[in-house]
Amino acid sequence: MQAHEKGFFTEENSIEVVTGRNLNAKNERLKAAINVIIRKLHEAVKEIEPTQEEWLQAILFLTRTGHMSDEWRQEFILLSDVLGVSMLVDAINNRKPSGASESTVLGPFHVAGAPELPMGANICLDQKGEDMLIRGHVRDVDGKPIEGATLDVWQANEEGFYDVQQKGIQPEFNLRGLFRTGPDGSYWFRAVKPKYYPIPHDGPVGQLLDDLGRHPNRPAHLHFIMKADGFQPLITHIFDPDDPYINSDAVFGVKKSLLAELKRVKDPERARQLDFAGDFWEIEYDFVLARSGK
Ligand code: BEZ
Ligand code: FE
Repeated sequence: MQAHEKGFFTEENSIEVVTGRNLNAKNERLKAAINVIIRKLHEAVKEIEPTQEEWLQAILFLTRTGHMSDEWRQEFILLSDVLGVSMLVDAINNRKPSGASESTVLGPFHVAGAPELPMGANICLDQKGEDMLIRGHVRDVDGKPIEGATLDVWQANEEGFYDVQQKGIQPEFNLRGLFRTGPDGSYWFRAVKPKYYPIPHDGPVGQLLDDLGRHPNRPAHLHFIMKADGFQPLITHIFDPDDPYINSDAVFGVKKSLLAELKRVKDPERARQLDFAGDFWEIEYDFVLARSGK
């Protein structure tokens, strides 16, 4: 019998000894996942060779991450976000057929139950910010319009804050709304130009970013959750390609296909029709949904 079969631990056989202890796991998927994690973790420790003090610091970091988390704040998700793991899990679970719109992270600021609004409504309830029109179509991969698709939209304001971060300052459900496409699959609504903002960075993850010489900012974007009968739900954003942080999103959410040009429109007649005071921004962006089961 070899040492690892007896369960005796050495630096060399550590992976075999520890994974071997899981032979009778009640859940095969759990066993497979934990054994991969043990293997990769032991490989990392063998490569890094942390001192006892460094390993304690790592454990205290995770402890602070847990302590920072509650029903409103999920510091572990932020950690997963800044390590690129959230985007990797998203990519693995949202492999779309060619031509379909790509997904990105949900983020912590979605609020269920935003009011359903008539097409064209202005989701900016406090008149603060630069006016913006967002319009386009929702189609299937063959280019056919999708009727009855819902677009659940949310965005930060001109200062980079969501309504839920500024309760009592912004009106409830400011810059949020649910829209439903008609027979031609078109959608349009009015909003304001969003601004980049930092992810919550007053906790251990913010400290880690700082220690790594990284900023906590996300480039300006609008969030969407799109749903339609017979189609896979799509959780995504569209991004301002001219944002200063477009190439360094703290959570790696940017994809080339999600860049949406913001055009400056100087057309008093259109502004009047849209009930805008003057020049405004315009985004035209089409979404393509993948059929369920594809
Ligand atoms: C967001 O875009 O709302 C977001 C995403 C990940 C972390 C923090 C915020
Ligand atoms: Fe966001």
